[in-house]
Amino acid sequence: VVVLLGWRYSIWFALIVVIAVACYVAFSIYATERRTAYIRRANEAESRSSSRAVDSLLNFETVKYFGNEHYEAQRYDEELAGWEVARRQNRLSLFALNGGQAFIIAAAMTAAMILAASQVLAEKMTLGDFVLINAFMMQIFMPLNFLGFVYREMKGSMANIEAMFALLRQRPTINDTTEAPSLQLQDGCIEVENLNFQYHSDRPILNNISFKVAAKQKVAIVGSSGAGKSTLLKLLFRFYDASSGRILIDGQDIKSVSQASLRGALGIVPQDTVLFNMSILENIRYGRIDASDEDIYEAIRMAHLSEFIARLPKGVDTLVGERGLKLSGGEKQRVAIARALLKKSPIMIFDEATSSLDSASERLILEAIKDIAREHTMLVIAHRLSTVVDADHILVLDQGEIVEQGNHESLLAQQGQYAHLWLMQQRERSSAPIPTQ
Ligand SMILES: Nc1ncnc2c1ncn2[C@@H]1O[C@H](COP(=O)(O)OP(=O)(O)OP(=O)(O)O)[C@@H](O)[C@H]1O
Ligand SMILES: [Mg+2]
Repeated sequence: VVVLLGWRYSIWFALIVVIAVACYVAFSIYATERRTAYIRRANEAESRSSSRAVDSLLNFETVKYFGNEHYEAQRYDEELAGWEVARRQNRLSLFALNGGQAFIIAAAMTAAMILAASQVLAEKMTLGDFVLINAFMMQIFMPLNFLGFVYREMKGSMANIEAMFALLRQRPTINDTTEAPSLQLQDGCIEVENLNFQYHSDRPILNNISFKVAAKQKVAIVGSSGAGKSTLLKLLFRFYDASSGRILIDGQDIKSVSQASLRGALGIVPQDTVLFNMSILENIRYGRIDASDEDIYEAIRMAHLSEFIARLPKGVDTLVGERGLKLSGGEKQRVAIARALLKKSPIMIFDEATSSLDSASERLILEAIKDIAREHTMLVIAHRLSTVVDADHILVLDQGEIVEQGNHESLLAQQGQYAHLWLMQQRERSSAPIPTQ
């Protein structure tokens, strides 16, 4: 079009077209770039406000306990207000972009038409030339406008999915080595050698921990809150890699075997039981998806859930609610125990597994677990020392270090932390205050 106009008519027509196209492209790129920032801001505001809503809805009990409905509503409102502002900026920037593009085209068309009209008036052109130039101009600006539209849409969509791309680019810090072999499990012996670990470099959590759990032994870890007991279990599951030292299971470094095989070999009742919003049956089945119904009922029996389930109108099909909030603390914990028992892993780990149970149910479950213990390696974390007196070996952890170890009798004889703790818990039990009328 530029060549035709310049050659056939006047160089001015060609210039108008070149300048208009250059302005159009430059303006579109500049304005679209600026707009991307607004789109990004609107997206961030949207995801913030929806996670805020989900968070306060999930924690509705806490919100009610503390009477903070108004506060939550206000915070949600603030998030939404931010979203509203960002959306408005986004819209306005779109209008500005559209308007600017239309203005450049209209200005170029007007200039060309005025020029052509003046040429017709001066009788240097015929009316046919005027119509032709008009058609040429339309021919060039209609596709240009379409290109501008496509560019804008593409940039906008890219801004919308860049969060997803960022997510796809994330690489896990814990990786299997290439073609990592499966863990070859014999009888489940765990060795921990000079383990050091910290979540953040400025605060060591575990200091030079070494111990061994022989096959089919029961080893207990006790110690004050925050000593690093649960952290040790997370390292065993390889949620994190230790900064130095290593963990061996049946002589194989857990870093050298595949994570799937490692986690398949370990069964755990975690400290905080979180259930899925499914039926009790499905929650228990989660321990081993392909378990038969008989196995599940066996696990239910061992975890002393049968009586509770019998009392439910819908039995095992009862839904447990988000994170299991329709069950009592002890019931939730027993579901977790059943789930772990169902997995039948050679190595069983209990992190405060019976802390929410009453003494009677605790005793019953411990009895049931005792039977399993004979065939499994067990690692047990407990605050109530009475639950671990029968352990083959007890480790006392304090601020990330093993300060004492031995069996119950030898630890008592040492008269150290363990003996002190034991005495205190015994005294508490015997001097429990008599209820007043
Ligand atoms: N993901 C994490 N990031 C940073 N610090 C953490 C993290 N998890 C735990 N910690 C810190 O590590 C320390 C040890 O935590 P850990 O959960 O192992 O304690 P614990 O011995 O199991 O205590 P408790 O008996 O109360 O369960 C704590 O002081 C805790 O604040
Ligand atoms: Mg813990």
